[in-house]
Amino acid sequence: MSEPVDPRPQSLRIAIIGAGRLGQTLARALAAQGCRIVAVASRAMPAAQALAARLPACAALPSGEAAAAADLVFLTVPDDAIAATAAGLRWRAGQRVVHCSGATEVAALAAAQEQGALVGGFHPLQIFSDPERALALLPGSTVAIEAEGELAIELHALAALLGMQPLALRPGTRAAYHGAASFAASFLLSMLDEAAQVWAAIGLPREQALRSLLPLARGTLDAAEAKGLAQALAGPISRGDVGVVARHLQAFDALGESHAQFYRELSRRQLTLAAESGRLDAAALARLAALLESA
Ligand SMILES: NC(=O)c1ccc[n+]([C@@H]2O[C@H](COP(=O)([O-])OP(=O)(O)OC[C@H]3O[C@@H](n4cnc5c(N)ncnc54)[C@H](OP(=O)(O)O)[C@@H]3O)[C@@H](O)[C@H]2O)c1
Repeated sequence: MSEPVDPRPQSLRIAIIGAGRLGQTLARALAAQGCRIVAVASRAMPAAQALAARLPACAALPSGEAAAAADLVFLTVPDDAIAATAAGLRWRAGQRVVHCSGATEVAALAAAQEQGALVGGFHPLQIFSDPERALALLPGSTVAIEAEGELAIELHALAALLGMQPLALRPGTRAAYHGAASFAASFLLSMLDEAAQVWAAIGLPREQALRSLLPLARGTLDAAEAKGLAQALAGPISRGDVGVVARHLQAFDALGESHAQFYRELSRRQLTLAAESGRLDAAALARLAALLESA
């Protein structure tokens, strides 16, 4: 039997287990919107106490007591600890148990579900390296929600309260969803690192690279936001400029195989966007494709 719970998110008694980067941010963001964070837990009591001290009427408790005190429990522990944490606690029928991982399936909460809890995923698609910055970034960010029934309604209500855009996820899709999001997150850093490495190889100072490349990256992202990916495309491939692309390839071949392969692969992928933009005819696309396939 499911416990009747008032659907207004501010009426839920919420506990946060794992006072790390995401746990701290989520607790403070929810409390700022009037949610009742009644308990926080962490293996290191000082971490839980420090977080509880920043929240109104919140207690730092051992995880079992924190879970028992709440209608909705967020397990904000590292992914590898989610299943064991869920299995190590006692749950009531109808209690809500949610993890915040992108890549870990909600099935990791099976132990709580077997005891009658409603389980789900609430993955804020944002970077939490610095809780202060993350707090400011949450409104407008997406949160991937995987849940059913009443819990889905409650998690959508929490997303709305935080000003976040909900995105529904289906079971079994989380690894692909999360891996793909890396292209918009840490892989962007790998791109910038590749550019900085090539610049360093031709004698440009590494510390200047980030200063020079970041405004370009921001301009590109702004264009994508304003026009969509295909119409934002700029550069020689978007113009069908085979001569410039050939000079790029020559320069990258001289830098070594891994640089050349990376450049070629990304350029090939860009042909799809170039075609979608409608700016190049089939012959121009074929010339570029042939050049990129050449050794
Ligand atoms: N960081 C991000 O950018 C980000 C973004 C989206 C989603 N997430 C998700 O959020 C969750 C937490 O990530 P995080 O970055 O906040 O990690 P984190 O900063 O390492 O915090 C996790 C907290 O959980 C506690 N913990 C660690 N091991 C534990 C264990 N074995 N059992 C119980 N508690 C343990 C730790 O505190 P104690 O040592 O005091 O127990 C730690 O402070 C993960 O599922 C992650 O995928 C993170």
